[in-house]
Amino acid sequence: MSSSKQNSLFQNAEFVPPDAIFDVTRRYLADASPDKVNLGQGTYRDENGQPWILPSVRMAKEAIGECGHEYLPIAGLKLFRDEAIKIALRGTKAYDDGRVATCQALSGTGALLLAGLALKKANAGITTVYITEPTWSNHDLLFSSLGFKVVSVPYYKDGAFDFKSYVNGLKEADSTSAVVLHACAHNPTGCDPSRDQWKEVGRLVQEKGIFPIFDSAYLGFNSGSVDEDAWAIRYFVDALGLEASICLSFAKSMGLYGERIGLVSYVTQSTETARTMSSILENVQRATVSNPPAYGARIAATVLSTPAIAEQWSKDLITMSGRIKSMRHKLFSELTSLQTPGDWSHLIKQTGMFGYTGISPSQVAYLEDKHHVYMADTSRISIAGLNESNVAYFASALDDAVRTVPRG
Ligand code: LMR
Repeated sequence: MSSSKQNSLFQNAEFVPPDAIFDVTRRYLADASPDKVNLGQGTYRDENGQPWILPSVRMAKEAIGECGHEYLPIAGLKLFRDEAIKIALRGTKAYDDGRVATCQALSGTGALLLAGLALKKANAGITTVYITEPTWSNHDLLFSSLGFKVVSVPYYKDGAFDFKSYVNGLKEADSTSAVVLHACAHNPTGCDPSRDQWKEVGRLVQEKGIFPIFDSAYLGFNSGSVDEDAWAIRYFVDALGLEASICLSFAKSMGLYGERIGLVSYVTQSTETARTMSSILENVQRATVSNPPAYGARIAATVLSTPAIAEQWSKDLITMSGRIKSMRHKLFSELTSLQTPGDWSHLIKQTGMFGYTGISPSQVAYLEDKHHVYMADTSRISIAGLNESNVAYFASALDDAVRTVPRG
């Protein structure tokens, strides 16, 4: 056997560090401490810290039974597409007119991927994508991987939405730009624009001809009401009459993380254009994953289309959003009784799955090393990881980190 070393085709390849948030999960799983707390990845946990199979999802699985293993069409399960789009758009003229193209996608990331690919294929002239700073880390990775120039606009300051800087940043965008808008439950800050602020953002988007892409991973999960959480989308599409792409995920709202079930849609000005965009979405789906997975689509479609199961789902949304809200308040009151230095009121003003604590990376590292508390290095915690058994432990660990480790 020859041991001669030949030049590798990959000699210039550079190692890419692991994804930060998935790496937090890996470290958490590897930790043997009985005290460990996982506040990293955004996955809902019940009051016992366990993954929760929604009662509505259990009902849907029973109703589905044996469903075979055949391919879905390229655009996905039609019943799923028809039901899912109603969550975002019911009551809007675009929906009633049928000016909407839809395609099943691999959860929220897959939906954004198809949205970006379709924007390119449609020759829409979009070269730049505006995202918020901070944002979900995949926004930058995904759109820059597709060859868009990605521009970050400041979004957060002193524990709140920095409306002024955001609007100023967005003023630089024009009709060659798209903007990624978090429909609700901004990830990671938990700070959403008020309705008046949404109206101003909408006016600017309209005036500048910027194309809105709604990343809508938390509809219903945020407030417990789908209609409340879809308000901004419907305002842009209906009140302003804008074209838009809406990317939905059912990972959080139905607890279907591993099924990778989502929807990408394009709202257009005419039914003909919607037909064209449907054909483009099918084409980019075929080029990337051929056709989407069936089981999650069947579950979501059954939940949404069966009145008794849909009613149970509404209750499940209230259970999840309510538990998260109560944990926010519990954490805040624990920190208040510990007299932890600093103002922590932002934790109860924020909304959605995450709390953006504002602690420094060295304090985050200390929490992991000393207290076995795992969270994103951006200071984001997944509030769903807290429960009656660990919230006091986490509060005292945070108190210790803040008192012991200088902010740096
Ligand atoms: C998160 O933000 O933690 C989740 O949306 C999971 C992910 O894919 O990053």
